[in-house]
Amino acid sequence: MNDIIKIEHLVKRFEDFTAVNDVSLTVKDGEIFGLLGPNGAGKTTIINMLLTLLTPTSGKITISGMDLSRNHERVKQLMGLMTQETVVEADLTARQNLSLFSHLYHIPRAIANKRIGEALREADLVNFADVKAGTFSGGMQRRLGLVRAMLQEPKILLLDEPTTGLDVQNRSTMWERIKELNRSGTTILLTTQYLEEADELCDRLGIIDHGKVIALGTPSEIKRIAGSGKVLEIIVNLQDVQKVVSLLKSRFKLAATYHGDRITAPLDKDGEGEFTKISATLERMRIPVLSIGAHLPTLDDVFIKLTGTGMRDAAGEMRGSRANLRWRR
Ligand SMILES: Nc1ncnc2c1ncn2[C@@H]1O[C@H](COP(=O)(O)OP(=O)(O)OP(=O)(O)O)[C@@H](O)[C@H]1O
Ligand SMILES: [Mg+2]
Repeated sequence: MNDIIKIEHLVKRFEDFTAVNDVSLTVKDGEIFGLLGPNGAGKTTIINMLLTLLTPTSGKITISGMDLSRNHERVKQLMGLMTQETVVEADLTARQNLSLFSHLYHIPRAIANKRIGEALREADLVNFADVKAGTFSGGMQRRLGLVRAMLQEPKILLLDEPTTGLDVQNRSTMWERIKELNRSGTTILLTTQYLEEADELCDRLGIIDHGKVIALGTPSEIKRIAGSGKVLEIIVNLQDVQKVVSLLKSRFKLAATYHGDRITAPLDKDGEGEFTKISATLERMRIPVLSIGAHLPTLDDVFIKLTGTGMRDAAGEMRGSRANLRWRR
């Protein structure tokens, strides 16, 4: 597959702060590529440079074979965007939001009218076409934002955190739409803080932290970084965390780390035996175990392994479910 986006040694400094630090990656024609990282990692800054809203401090971006710094008007036509913050214009109706965009992209009126009708149907907003977008739910606004980004039929779609803040149902609707657009030939570059989203949607992804790409590959390639065996996960009362971590390190020789009340440690291939021994030891020591289990390595385990910093699930959101895991710092 051809590289439709090629980013080479991209750097963005804001005065003495480096937000994007020597990022190199490629997005292949036809794939869904994800930039996965916590708050402040530099995801939006990269998107803004792709759109020429920000000028890189150094480095090079090539889109469809064209150097972005010299062909910015032509390249702009190839890209659709759904931003992270202002998804749609709140004071305009759904239909007006779409008309405004078709003007901005110089879509001839007859074609625009047809596409707007289709877009409203696709976004399931026919009955809300003449209602102000500001009154819409988060899910409706994102659906409108997505069809608006597709109005000029871009080859490449940039989605900056397309599902942040959406509930589980709206999120899966959005995932289906993203997959459909990709199946119909659109290359997609998305950013996300959700591990499960990256895993579910992306053909390849880059994990980004403090402006640097720390892992790059398919989700399964990346997960292999965390090891070939399963990962032990124990949840205990906060006051027992240190005790259990020391025990795992000293007695079981495991590289245990913790975050809050959650302790994880990679097990080797035949780790199941160890697992039973650990359970028995904790019981003997009368340490109450709230949950103990072993799972296949997740992107979360990779992040812990590469950065040493824990990742946590959004406080209070669905403990135990992977669906809502996201990074917070
Ligand atoms: N215009 C600016 N001036 C100074 N610092 C900036 C500017 N824009 C971004 N930053 C800083 O650069 C870093 C990266 O920001 P960016 O918005 O790219 O992160 P992000 O990965 O998109 O985070 P989030 O998930 O919260 O959207 C942050 O520390 C941010 O404060
Ligand atoms: Mg952002």
